[in-house]
Amino acid sequence: MDDFVELVFPDGFLWGCAVAAHQVEGNNMNNNWWKWEQEGHTLDLSGVACDHYNRYKEDFGIARKLNLNSFRTSIEWSRVEPREGVWSSKEVEHYRRVLQEMRRRGLTPIITLHHFTDPLWFAEKGGWEKPESVDIFDCFVRKIVEELGDLIPFYTTINEPMVYVVLGYVFGVFPPGERDLLKAFSVARNLLLAHARAYRTIHEVCREMGYPKPMVGFAHNMMMFEPLDPKDERHVNEANTSDAIYNRWFLESIHTGVVQPPVGQEEAEGLKGAWDFIGLNYYTRSICIPSPDPSRRFAVVPMDAELTDMHYEVYPEGLYKLLVSLKKYGKPVYITENGIATSSDRQRCRFIIRHLAEAHRALRERVDLRGYMYWSLIDNFEWNEGFSKRFGLVEVNYKNLKRTPRESAYMYAEIAKRNAVTAELAQKYLGRSKA
Ligand code: GAL
Repeated sequence: MDDFVELVFPDGFLWGCAVAAHQVEGNNMNNNWWKWEQEGHTLDLSGVACDHYNRYKEDFGIARKLNLNSFRTSIEWSRVEPREGVWSSKEVEHYRRVLQEMRRRGLTPIITLHHFTDPLWFAEKGGWEKPESVDIFDCFVRKIVEELGDLIPFYTTINEPMVYVVLGYVFGVFPPGERDLLKAFSVARNLLLAHARAYRTIHEVCREMGYPKPMVGFAHNMMMFEPLDPKDERHVNEANTSDAIYNRWFLESIHTGVVQPPVGQEEAEGLKGAWDFIGLNYYTRSICIPSPDPSRRFAVVPMDAELTDMHYEVYPEGLYKLLVSLKKYGKPVYITENGIATSSDRQRCRFIIRHLAEAHRALRERVDLRGYMYWSLIDNFEWNEGFSKRFGLVEVNYKNLKRTPRESAYMYAEIAKRNAVTAELAQKYLGRSKA
């Protein structure tokens, strides 16, 4: 029989779940994703999604019952600013109630200001391709912080900017469906500068308004790039290049204050050190082979790999390696997303425990890890994949929107309650007899 030891997490560790407005709220008709869906790019239309817009109290109630002490969600820009410079006080008030409810339930809010969706008016004038996007987004950020900043202790300014760039402008599978490297570079630069500006603005407004000083970072998707053949220099180069661009470009730009090549090589005002923490979204590894076609770079999966319903490889060790690689930046790290789409909840349980074991290994190597947000609390609208992929600890029945916690929810509740993965839990879900 395997011997399992108890993995105790540091005091004050944040245990939470993550969602994003467009994926759960429903009826976000005024953004570029809604339009993308109407154009037939997605398996389903988001429609009422999980109706979280109306059922947020129920959802936070579930999160609280699961002993969570934090919750990551986003504010939908297109609701708050339906036309440029026009603010909806009704929607601002809605988000105030959402934040108050979270806090009432003992959930520390971690608030994302941009999670893939853009207001239609913004997309129609060129979106993030245009340098003005930085100022335009800054107006929204300022408004949110002035109105709601008293309730927000954590901000993730922009969610996965590199995913936005790569899927929207390199592979063309997210809006606006472009395959244009020059545009991709402009968008990456503008998102980077918008993040840095948001960082400064959030702190400035909080100081002016006398709000408590928040923690500000962004949520960064990282993949573990490894060469198919570690002895083949071309494979190794491929993995290193993907790592340098996809994983490091944002991090190094903020760390050094210099917009990194291939997009630039110049210092940008206010960029250096524009973060109080790093948010890491980790899902999988990518095995690299040399290829002139960038769309093949993500395609290789080992023959014996365990796969998720997204056809991602389950590779917990990657989380450990990436966490350790973040040590050089000297910032606290929060895992702002980690999760699995699967029709087997047992697989979800194993996934969570195995990733937490790797996170704990990183903690033992003095990585300053302070929280873990499972993606996601409830099944939701998974972008192009529609409702077909189930990430939730809690099942959503899309016919009547009923929420039903899965076994993984109770397992996660136990972990959050004890601030530890107990030996019993590890034995139950990883032990040979049950594996
Ligand atoms: C992330 C994204 C989320 C969610 C998740 C699962 O990249 O931030 O919105 O869709 O992937 O695929």
